[in-house]
Amino acid sequence: MKGRIVPAVAEKVKEMSAGICEEAESRKNMLPKSQADIMVLLPTYFIAMEGDQLVGTCGLKIWSIGQGEIISLLTWEGFRGRGYATGLIEATIKKGRKLGLREFFVLAVSPDFFRRFGFASVDYRVFPVKLWSDCAHCKRNAAGPGDKECKKTMLHLSLR
Ligand SMILES: CC(C)(COP(=O)(O)OP(=O)(O)OC[C@H]1O[C@@H](n2cnc3c(N)ncnc32)[C@H](O)[C@@H]1OP(=O)(O)O)[C@@H](O)C(=O)NCCC(=O)NCCS
Repeated sequence: MKGRIVPAVAEKVKEMSAGICEEAESRKNMLPKSQADIMVLLPTYFIAMEGDQLVGTCGLKIWSIGQGEIISLLTWEGFRGRGYATGLIEATIKKGRKLGLREFFVLAVSPDFFRRFGFASVDYRVFPVKLWSDCAHCKRNAAGPGDKECKKTMLHLSLR
């Protein structure tokens, strides 16, 4: 990796939101995040920087005691295959562990990428709150996983 993984800061939020929303709109593979969405969770977000250029994002949403969801994992096109997403995931899980989280989950369009870190597929119905609150906002599929339009796989990592 030529660049670095650093905690996200407020001055980058506009650009983070624009990158995530552009990917969400064009590929329908992740949820869009407004600047307000990101600001609320800013202490959990990491960004990848190559020089002065923002090239990646990843956040962590805590749903219940000890359990967090990996969100907004994105490496900007043109900067992929350089280890940024790996660095972002590692930093996010390390931070989650420091916060006391022992379980992580992700609703992923790229399940094989997450398997590299020990995540394993799990029945999506294990996390009903996520489905009810987030899937309703998905452009591809308001019904959530299980609907034939949904391209995502639920994965889980336990670090107990
Ligand atoms: C998936 C994504 C985050 C990977 O980012 P990246 O910065 O290119 O990932 P890395 O460079 O850290 O890749 C590390 C390794 O994972 C592999 N990998 C990358 N994307 C993969 C995928 N979709 N499935 C399986 N393996 C993948 C790479 O080939 C690389 O392997 P290597 O170490 O053997 O060379 C990026 O392609 C992306 O932003 N995609 C669009 C948004 C998206 O799908 N986000 C994830 C939501 S679930």
